[in-house]
Amino acid sequence: METASFDFGMIGLGVMGRNLLLNMADHGYHVVGFDKDQAKATSLESFATPGTTVKGVTTLAEMVRQLKRPRKLMMLVPAGPIVDQVINEALPLLEEGDIIIDGGNSHYVDTLKRIKFLEDKKVHFVGMGVSGGEHGARTGPSIMPGGDVAAWRELKPILEAVSAKVNPPQNEPCVAYMGKGAAGHYVKMVHNGIEYAIMQLISEVYDVMKRSLGLTNDEMHEIFKKWNEGEMSSFLVEITSEIFRKKDELTGNLLVDMILDKAGSKGTGKWTSQDAMDLPVPVPTIDTAVSMRDLSVYKDDRVKAASLYKPKIKAITKNKERIIDQLHDSLFAATIICYAQGLAMLHKASSELNMDIPLKDVVRIWRGGCIIRSSLLELFTTAFRRDSSLSNILLHRKTASLVKKRTAALRRTIQLCASARIPAAGLASALSYFDAFCSETLPTNLIQAQRDYFGAHTYQRTDKEGIFHTEW
Ligand code: 6PG
Repeated sequence: METASFDFGMIGLGVMGRNLLLNMADHGYHVVGFDKDQAKATSLESFATPGTTVKGVTTLAEMVRQLKRPRKLMMLVPAGPIVDQVINEALPLLEEGDIIIDGGNSHYVDTLKRIKFLEDKKVHFVGMGVSGGEHGARTGPSIMPGGDVAAWRELKPILEAVSAKVNPPQNEPCVAYMGKGAAGHYVKMVHNGIEYAIMQLISEVYDVMKRSLGLTNDEMHEIFKKWNEGEMSSFLVEITSEIFRKKDELTGNLLVDMILDKAGSKGTGKWTSQDAMDLPVPVPTIDTAVSMRDLSVYKDDRVKAASLYKPKIKAITKNKERIIDQLHDSLFAATIICYAQGLAMLHKASSELNMDIPLKDVVRIWRGGCIIRSSLLELFTTAFRRDSSLSNILLHRKTASLVKKRTAALRRTIQLCASARIPAAGLASALSYFDAFCSETLPTNLIQAQRDYFGAHTYQRTDKEGIFHTEW
């Protein structure tokens, strides 16, 4: 008879699931992994650090039997119907008080339904964002759990142990309770929206460097490396610098030049945009990033249009150093504006969807392990610690002073891109958002007039309270 001696069970031994489980084992937990794929289950142990307790099994029942109570199981399976299948298979094997975690990128609406479904069965369901990719899963991801507080208390020690740590020697863990209901998955979704937006901005800066300034990959490697050593230090800037150096094994060319310019996506960016519009809260740079990935996929049309319109990219040959500095400042300002949009969305969603998301903890646990980690998050952490109800990080004085100094550069970059025919929709949307956000008056009075003109939609006045309509 097997004894229930294992601390944690992982369902789905793809690289993410396997690595996170091995990370737990490295921290002294006894772990068991289940995958229907025999090869994945049997090879699990061979990846483990010697001396750790790791076991692979091929049936869910075998795994559940060996877990200590309350059982802690986590799924790392593709978002969608598979999550429900696993829940339905696991449910008859579980008991009151057990905890199932969904660590994938599920849509928060699905998570809410699952919480409700399992609540009736007295099983805790935790929607949890995990960021950091395969490497992060093994060495320390940023972890965003939400939902049931009792379940969070049970999980806290193990999650703190395996999460990324920042600020040695304090080693602050990059995991915290993200709020009620599906807050964990909601926060991860917005994390990904910001991820999409920053990646779009970096790609636009790359485009200027490559097609207009004519820089080589080696030069771009050096520039991004230098940028990563300064105030714009971030994981995405760091890996961008590394990417420019990677050789293609097939051809010996630099790999980045061999990669087709069509970007895939799995949905979290799109959901961020859709859900932002539902709130509503503006996240135009995230919307643009999603659209630009979509546009990239229309390669055949783009090829035809290129031959029809024959765009001539204007080469910039003078003052390259100055323009590179200008690009740095543009990217820095626009990146802050992306965070501002995403964080403003979380601020609104927190109350609107009754999640009580602690923004000071969100930015704190994004400082390490996750894809959008950057030195800026230290500043945002200070800002939200001081004022947890900050509705937009652009209203924080220190952040404002960083942006203020760089908007002139961002403006020049947009001008440069427009005249050089380099598409810069992300950078431009960041600047327009900023200009609109800082504008005491907007031309929306005219839109209100038009709405009232053709549809009697009414308007408010600047000089007195009330709702008005005019026979135009
Ligand atoms: C992370 C990542 C990851 C994410 C993909 C996004 O935080 O580790 O955000 O979870 O799902 O990188 O994938 P797509 O670009 O394919 O949508």
